[in-house]
Amino acid sequence: MSFEQSNWVWRNGEIIRWEDASTHLSSHVLHYGSGVFEGIRCYATDDGPAVFRLDAHLDRFYASASVYGLEIPYTRVELVKAIDDLIRKHEFASCYLRPLCFFGSDSLLVHPTTCPVEVAILAWPWAPYLGAVGLEKGVRVTVSPWKKFHSDMMPATAKTCGQYVNSILAVRDAVRRGYDEALLLNQEGSLAEGSGENVFIVSNGEVVTNDERHSILMGITRDPVLQIAKDLGHRVDVRAMTVEELLSADEAFFTGTAAEVTPIREVDGVLLNGGKPGPITMNLQRAYFAAVSGLEPRYKDWLHVVAQPVELSRT
Ligand SMILES: Cc1ncc(COP(=O)(O)O)c(C=O)c1O
Repeated sequence: MSFEQSNWVWRNGEIIRWEDASTHLSSHVLHYGSGVFEGIRCYATDDGPAVFRLDAHLDRFYASASVYGLEIPYTRVELVKAIDDLIRKHEFASCYLRPLCFFGSDSLLVHPTTCPVEVAILAWPWAPYLGAVGLEKGVRVTVSPWKKFHSDMMPATAKTCGQYVNSILAVRDAVRRGYDEALLLNQEGSLAEGSGENVFIVSNGEVVTNDERHSILMGITRDPVLQIAKDLGHRVDVRAMTVEELLSADEAFFTGTAAEVTPIREVDGVLLNGGKPGPITMNLQRAYFAAVSGLEPRYKDWLHVVAQPVELSRT
């Protein structure tokens, strides 16, 4: 159980007890997946807890919501305060944050016409998504028989609750067949992404990933990793990637808020870099962890240090 240390939830403007944070079974989101969410990490830094790329996550949260007509009734300033308050209330040094906005209970017409818009934020400490061992030694992946839904069907760039059933099918199949994670191809047959991560390959020193043209969620970890790769002197390219390129790549890795920078050591029995995390991947991983921990001054703008309550001066 991941939630043992979670005692509070921010819901519709107030912090309530975890055990009171329930919603009715008639909620529209439960039946039709009509919600959007974010996954954000807060890291321990010398300046206190700091949320990584909060601005970018809030941009995506509002953008995802607007696609589905979910009008978030809180300003950015209010959501930032809500996140700060929730982290402080738990006294977390680091944690994972899950803002969620959804259509609640009023009617079960598919058109959510009269359903109230609800907003909640959860927080809990979350270990590396693909495991600490996966982070260190790499994960084994399989190309999924399930294709990533095409962005013509629904916008892949929106982080929508309902669309994760596509990922669930893929990861269940992968795990059932003994793999750590699934890699989904898109309708065109090129690589899309993992069930919860973006994918990169490294060939001849060049770091390559794809983008929204390939029906992926435009991950918020993806950009800083591309930036770090450039800053480390690598050539980077953003284009379609084929399975053949992946199988013959020198290295490959996943990026994601939850998965961070996780090496891929095997694809369907084919070992990459002899079955060990590649050196460029591990350099990127080290630099990423330095950035999120506030140890790299040039990337400090990516961090939102959680505001501490102002001490009232006593006279
Ligand atoms: C399908 C999918 N792709 C990519 C990502 C990576 O996105 P981010 O870096 O914003 O966490 C995620 C993360 O949740 C995801 O679920």
